[in-house]
Amino acid sequence: MGNGLIDPFGREISYLRVSVTDRCDLRCFYCMPEHFNDYTVPDHWLSFDEIERVTAAFAALGVSRLRLTGGEPLVRKGLPELATRLAALPGITDLSLSTNANRLAQEAVALKQASVSRLNISLDSLQPKRFQLITKGKLDKVMAGLMAAKAAGFAPIKINMVVMKGINDDEVLDMVEFCLEHRFTLRFIETMPMGETGRNARDSYYLSLQTVKARLAEHYNLLPSIMEGGGPAQYYTIGATGLKIGFITPISQHFCATCNRVRLGVGGTLYLCLGQEHSVALCPLLRAGISDVALQSVIRKALWLKPLEHTFNQMQTQVLRFMSMTGGK
Ligand code: 5AD
Ligand code: SF4
Repeated sequence: MGNGLIDPFGREISYLRVSVTDRCDLRCFYCMPEHFNDYTVPDHWLSFDEIERVTAAFAALGVSRLRLTGGEPLVRKGLPELATRLAALPGITDLSLSTNANRLAQEAVALKQASVSRLNISLDSLQPKRFQLITKGKLDKVMAGLMAAKAAGFAPIKINMVVMKGINDDEVLDMVEFCLEHRFTLRFIETMPMGETGRNARDSYYLSLQTVKARLAEHYNLLPSIMEGGGPAQYYTIGATGLKIGFITPISQHFCATCNRVRLGVGGTLYLCLGQEHSVALCPLLRAGISDVALQSVIRKALWLKPLEHTFNQMQTQVLRFMSMTGGK
């Protein structure tokens, strides 16, 4: 505290999400258009050295927790090497990874060895046909990835399910049972209006998680609970099972007041809020040879731009970035 990164609203920023690619080997319809090809060119991606420098600057300013995101982080070559370097930075106490698990069967052991401590895995359906409709991918590959992660000893493994009306909301109970069986933590997420798919997702598939919670409460005894590492989810434990269920409700109950995070895009742009355009381009400064001290000062000043909250609920303006550019949730 004291020396940490504090934004104009008194929130302490202790958590950095680092997007290592904007590419993805799946095509979830609510995230990217099927033939999306407008990626950042790799020359403009931060190199591992550059990511390490920016992360070290954040760590010097008090950030202790990191998450690697994408796009799909496992499509970036050499990711375990980057993870090893970032986990070793002074001040970093927690390194986690968000993945679609499509390549996890091959990578789980290397990631574990690279000091990745926790995994968040996207899984929106347990039905192969439906999984394919939502993601254009194959469920059995993702399941193999999940089981490899479990076998490699990751704990907790968190499953993130985006709940969409008329698409997969009938699977909410199945997902609970699946997670009970495998001892995974389950988190339900509301569809956010992002990118081109945003308006659609908002108008036709949006389902308030308040409804889902009420439905679950008819079947299970939900006891309010907390989970290490906080984050924006509201947790409940199911009766005596120990299974934790989280609700991430950016729309129906936003949690901006306790926001503790900022995001580094693959091109070195620092995004101050997932649901707003406020940003600072760090890449040109890095490539012009900025000193460590000056970089820290730029980051401190960037924090002054952090907005109070997202405006998903007003939505005259729309965030045109895709989730894959700034790394989900
Ligand atoms: N709404 C909510 N979550 C989204 N994600 C991507 N697009 C959206 C969206 N429009 C999140 C999901 C997914 C992760 C990779 O990104 O949580 O599991
Ligand atoms: Fe890929 Fe995740 Fe977007 Fe699906 S939601 S297309 S897995 S980045």
